[in-house]
Amino acid sequence: MRIPVNDLKRQALSIEGELNAAVSRVIRSGRYVGGPELDAFEQAFARACGRRYCIGVGNGYDAIEIGLRGLGIGAGDEVVTVANAGGFGSLAILMTHALPVYVDVDWSTMNIDTAKVERALTRRTRAIIVTHLYGRLAPMEPIVRIARAAGISIIEDAAQAHGAVRNGRPAGGFGDVGCFSFYPTKCLGAVGDAGAIVTDDEELATKVRALRQYGWVGKMVAELGGGRNSRLDEIQAAVLHLKLRHLDAWNARRRAIDAAYRAMIEHPAIDWPDAAGEDHAVHLCVLRSRDRDRLRTRLTDAGVGTSVHYPVPDYGQPALKAALPGPVSLPVTDRASREVLTLPNFPEMTNEEVGHVIEAVRKAVAFV
Ligand SMILES: Cc1ncc(COP(=O)(O)O)c(C=O)c1O
Repeated sequence: MRIPVNDLKRQALSIEGELNAAVSRVIRSGRYVGGPELDAFEQAFARACGRRYCIGVGNGYDAIEIGLRGLGIGAGDEVVTVANAGGFGSLAILMTHALPVYVDVDWSTMNIDTAKVERALTRRTRAIIVTHLYGRLAPMEPIVRIARAAGISIIEDAAQAHGAVRNGRPAGGFGDVGCFSFYPTKCLGAVGDAGAIVTDDEELATKVRALRQYGWVGKMVAELGGGRNSRLDEIQAAVLHLKLRHLDAWNARRRAIDAAYRAMIEHPAIDWPDAAGEDHAVHLCVLRSRDRDRLRTRLTDAGVGTSVHYPVPDYGQPALKAALPGPVSLPVTDRASREVLTLPNFPEMTNEEVGHVIEAVRKAVAFV
């Protein structure tokens, strides 16, 4: 048996009729960009996030960069963030000509360590990007308190956390701006690239709407500097809208698979982050092992696909570190990059496949 980390075709085939109907509705409509499908999805997704506004954009990276620009962040500013989340936030910060300031993560959750945020703030700090890594909501309540006291903005990178909820408040519903990716592998994934920004701030929403389309405020009148073309097209909007109705059920299955792994894989060589509940969408099921690379090889040999999210901290990425003022090293982030391992977890996995992964990991750790 061979089990991939993810299998997007299975999800598409499970709702093939709905997908085909949506795509052909758009094709027959003659409206392919900026039409009723986008309006309807933006409204539905804003509601799902408990926000007043949703602005669809081209991808999750653009959501972060446009969000930063919408907040007026640029040269001379600092933005506090983590370095274990794939580099997307760091790149966006650098593209605005601001500087990322890194805070280490909490080993038990892999999210930002709130005890270390305050000492990272300077008089140049304008914002904090909080990533809900792997789909687990970061501790937003203390972050909101710290940010409000310091007068800085909060950007949630919720690219991995669609549908995660804490005390009734969903991912993207805590900060000034929530940023989402709908990359096909995400909990809510398009059939191509797509992303969105959510906010309650009307002025910011208006600015972001202009920035996603050349800085146009009125039609073909570029009033706002820093604009670009980053639009969410009608086919992607229609697909996302229908998939949104399945999101809670898909996330429930991801959580159940994660729970099965945790219950059945117990070994001194395996270290799980703390268990979570509804506040974790389990976009990625990640364990830690000091013998990660050997474990990974054995799993590959047993037909189990794995991945590493992420192998290099942002401050070690060749393309990013050259732009930083000096070398950075954070012990928990460094350790995570050496030890994290992603197991297969997607809603369409069969129980038999889940059992096979459990057996394969058990056998592999017995020998590492
Ligand atoms: C945490 C995080 N932020 C941002 C992004 C960027 O999203 P996209 O690939 O849609 O640009 C991703 C997805 O890859 C992500 O996982």
